[in-house]
Amino acid sequence: MYVCICNQVNERAIAEAVRSGARSLDCLITALDVATCCGKCADDARRVIDNTLVGDAYAGGCDLATDAAA
Ligand code: FES
Repeated sequence: MYVCICNQVNERAIAEAVRSGARSLDCLITALDVATCCGKCADDARRVIDNTLVGDAYAGGCDLATDAAA
C-alpha cells in the first residue's frame, strides 16, 4: 500500500529502508523522498518506521525469562 502518494513510496519500501538503517523520518526523506511534497504522509511514514522496528523486535524473539533469571 502506498504511504506517500506524491512520491509513490509504499510501505514495503519504507520497511526495507528502516531495516537498512533509516530509523527516522529525516532518514526516510533522504533515502526515499518521503514527505517532501505535500507532507501529509509524514505521520503514516513514522508509523511504518515504528511498526517495522517493533515487528522486527518481536520476530527476533524475546529473552524475558532469561533476563528475569539473571
Ligand atoms: S503523500 Fe507524501 S509528500 Fe505527499
